[in-house]
Amino acid sequence: MKAIVCKTWGPPDSLRVEDLPDVVPGPGQVSIDVQAAGVNFPDVLIIQNKYQFKPELPFTPGSELAGVVRAVGEGVTQFKAGDKVIAFVSTGAFAQQIAAPVQALMPMPPGLDFDTAAAVTLTYGTSHHAVVDRAQLKAGETMLVLGAAGGVGLAAIEIGKALGARVIAAASTDEKLEVCKAHGADATINYSTQDLREAIKAATEGKGPDVIYDPVGGVYAEPAFRSIAWRGRYLVIGFANGEIPKLPLNLPLLKGASLVGVFWGEFARREPKANLAAMRELMGWMAEGKIRPHISHRYALAETPQALNDMAARKVTGKVVIQPQR
Ligand SMILES: NC(=O)c1ccc[n+]([C@@H]2O[C@H](COP(=O)([O-])OP(=O)(O)OC[C@H]3O[C@@H](n4cnc5c(N)ncnc54)[C@H](OP(=O)(O)O)[C@@H]3O)[C@@H](O)[C@H]2O)c1
Repeated sequence: MKAIVCKTWGPPDSLRVEDLPDVVPGPGQVSIDVQAAGVNFPDVLIIQNKYQFKPELPFTPGSELAGVVRAVGEGVTQFKAGDKVIAFVSTGAFAQQIAAPVQALMPMPPGLDFDTAAAVTLTYGTSHHAVVDRAQLKAGETMLVLGAAGGVGLAAIEIGKALGARVIAAASTDEKLEVCKAHGADATINYSTQDLREAIKAATEGKGPDVIYDPVGGVYAEPAFRSIAWRGRYLVIGFANGEIPKLPLNLPLLKGASLVGVFWGEFARREPKANLAAMRELMGWMAEGKIRPHISHRYALAETPQALNDMAARKVTGKVVIQPQR
């Protein structure tokens, strides 16, 4: 079977496709033919040793996938060969086969295609945990989403709308903002061409957003926080911009506002029951058509470096997936 291998820390172009032996599931494991693997911004960072999670070299990157069970290891009774599954793993998804622990799997809901099934776990899981659990966004409140056309951003827009909130999307191009509108955004801000603070003020009649969802960081964080409403909640999701911003602590004081950290992977590890309940709610919303994952690009396994380069260059919207069998 073919797999992407990271042998040395470096940019996406240093990744290689290699022929590896077929996988054999160990006790408590399931082997899977991977039909689609979702790409996430952390994948770009992990291969460069720039992320908090540091796998041992060599390794195969990729953490979320959908596929078909090949075989089950000793002690596995929940799945059988031929079952369609979704898995969330620490590494190994950018490959034609993977052996994953049974705890990492859930059955693929009927009616989903493999690409969509591979694209929901991390982005929608993160945004559900952030918006529903950490920010407690209520119907009638307003949420501003930065980097809104990205993977977690688009998921946040859809979840905000599913909860009955008003959602303002902010992104760097008008094309990206069109995608946000198509996924439910009520208003938009182009932060490349508009002054962020003025635009937020105009879009909220001077009141400011109740919740701000920030996966970008960098130069946007302070002006966004200065615009937040009284009792606002500012969700710290990530730093796609590359710079971890610093914030004067008088700002939360003046607004009676909260800075709210979000770390979905750790939440899923520490609170697996709560995460499963969130996943069930998301799958229900998907079946009802309330959320519709948007996949802008699909790549063959050998094109994985291109997929990661396109994501790093801000060329993609929503999700991109690798299709390892082609
Ligand atoms: N806390 C958690 O549990 C958690 C979970 C998953 C992801 N994350 C983090 O969330 C962030 C977004 O992840 P994602 O998968 O949604 O990524 P993504 O699809 O690439 O979206 C990131 C967005 O950030 C914006 N951006 C601004 N400056 C950028 C730059 N210099 N390079 C790249 N993008 C830039 C881009 O939008 P514009 O071009 O419109 O500005 C892009 O659409 C990452 O930092 C990731 O590590 C955190």
